[in-house]
Amino acid sequence: MRKKVIAGNWKMHKDLSESQSLITKLTNALSKEEVKCDVIICPPFTSLSEAAGLVKNTKVKLGAQNMHFEGRGAFTGEVSAAMLKSVGCEYVILGHSERRAIFGESDETINKKIKKALDSGLRPIFCIGETLQERESGIMNDVIKRQITEGLHQVSKGEMEQTIIAYEPVWAIGTGVTATPDQAQEVHVYVRKLIAEIFGDDTAEKLIIQYGGSVKPNNAAELLSQNDIDGALVGGACLEADSFMNIIKSA
Ligand code: PGA
Repeated sequence: MRKKVIAGNWKMHKDLSESQSLITKLTNALSKEEVKCDVIICPPFTSLSEAAGLVKNTKVKLGAQNMHFEGRGAFTGEVSAAMLKSVGCEYVILGHSERRAIFGESDETINKKIKKALDSGLRPIFCIGETLQERESGIMNDVIKRQITEGLHQVSKGEMEQTIIAYEPVWAIGTGVTATPDQAQEVHVYVRKLIAEIFGDDTAEKLIIQYGGSVKPNNAAELLSQNDIDGALVGGACLEADSFMNIIKSA
């Protein structure tokens, strides 16, 4: 049995005091619950250091939303894996569709970031997913396969076991349109099969595959009841402690 992992991607929301308030509410609520899943929050860079202090000795783990693939250097505005480690991050979201679409990140760039993160002891939450046009034109499986094979190029079996995959259909992100449990389950099975082909059945069986894209308290339980949906990557609904807690409780 895979333990479910619920992660909150705050995106570009919450200044420092808003972050303190949300984390405090969340950790207080969690301290009163028997949660069965792992919980990760990914606040913006500016709140990470403070967040690390607030989640210490709680059930919440900390992740970042992006990083650069180089270790250091003249890369104005960028943040390295070592910097994220130094403030207490365990996870980093990589390959998010907003990074791909708005900031032009290619599969090759994402691969470099994944390898750097793993090399630095950070666990990637590697996002993949097709656009509506790709789904409707029948190339969804090809897109998912390309994202996986190129994104995970030269990643070792041991490293793969440190990696989470988040399947996030682009058409479901921030739109209020969720993939149906069946649609999500079908892709998750396909992803696990691809991972089995590259890394072996045992690695694929252990792999956490999260679903992301308009996960809300009212649809989380049904999505998470699917055999191959091992958690959720939550955007909008993680910005309020109550709604995030309700998703966590349904896992
Ligand atoms: P959403 O975002 O829950 O707001 O759709 C999910 C994500 O982008 O990770």
